[in-house]
Amino acid sequence: MKTLDFRSDTVTQPTAKMRQAMASAPVGDDVYGDDPTLNELEELSAKILGKEAALFVPSGTFGNQVSILTHTKRGDEIIVGFDAHIVWHEVGGAAVISGVQTRTLNTDYGIYDMEALKNLIRGEDIHYPDTGLICMENAHGGGKVVPLEHMKAVYELAKGRGIPVHLDGARLFNAAAYLGVEAREITQYCDTVNVCLSKGLGAPVGSMVAGDSRFIEKARKMRKLMGGGMRQAGILGAAGIIAITEMVDRLKEDHANAGILREKMAAFKGVQVDMDRSHINMVFFKASEEDFPSDRVVAGLLERGIKVNGPEGGEWRFVTNKDIETEDIDTLVNALKEVLE
Ligand SMILES: Cc1ncc(COP(=O)(O)O)c(C=O)c1O
Repeated sequence: MKTLDFRSDTVTQPTAKMRQAMASAPVGDDVYGDDPTLNELEELSAKILGKEAALFVPSGTFGNQVSILTHTKRGDEIIVGFDAHIVWHEVGGAAVISGVQTRTLNTDYGIYDMEALKNLIRGEDIHYPDTGLICMENAHGGGKVVPLEHMKAVYELAKGRGIPVHLDGARLFNAAAYLGVEAREITQYCDTVNVCLSKGLGAPVGSMVAGDSRFIEKARKMRKLMGGGMRQAGILGAAGIIAITEMVDRLKEDHANAGILREKMAAFKGVQVDMDRSHINMVFFKASEEDFPSDRVVAGLLERGIKVNGPEGGEWRFVTNKDIETEDIDTLVNALKEVLE
């Protein structure tokens, strides 16, 4: 029985082509700069992301944290959305690793109130920390894409105040697919970006950080400090090259499948699908325990070879990914009907 996994887009298996490329990748010691496959991935990524240079890092969390560490000095303040991955899901890394204070800002799924943002930027005062960085997230983990005009407005405000902007673009290519633009049209409005290879793009491991050459040179040293200097990492980079060159165009299939799933979920009794947060490959819904008992749903689906996470904060999230075909949506829906009967 094929297992279907709707828990995330991180759960995908590497493609056969990725596995072959990994097996035959030319490699060398990347701490010496000697890994030709990683060098190729970094050059390619920089070009695709419209930046001078790029750096391979083990994960999206690592990419964000090494970027914060590289941009800031201890005691700085960083401005970041209250609901950002950097705030919720990175174990307080900004405080632990960089020694910075996090100043959070209300957001509408990644969109800031410009007045509120302006007011958070510190002026000169003996009591104040320096504002060292403004962070954005696009696509936002809440399932929406931040429009280009808003990215531009934040970037211009930051530039005017001499503050760098870091973009958590774990799902940057999903945002680009939704907006119908090239990734670099989004990244023109940030100084640095972190992009995950191991989510919708299907690579087993890794993220890319991109920025100007000086930043990336310093980030390479900070990556070493954080224990992320990897040796023959071209084995991983080989899959990354396929991810970033061949897997981007198929993200719209995940978005379309999520659209089908949204419609079908909305037909279940007691289920309210959030049709507003529908830009990418995520389906969010609330459901009454009476009509949609969470423990029974999770266990019943698992018995039928389908993995889903239970609700978090009262909300369910089903995620489509490269290992979910359109017909698998019906398999999920039919299994749900059986479980709920
Ligand atoms: C928006 C966002 N940023 C960063 C990350 C971190 O990526 P990783 O799980 O590779 O550390 C994730 C992971 O889900 C994410 O959704």
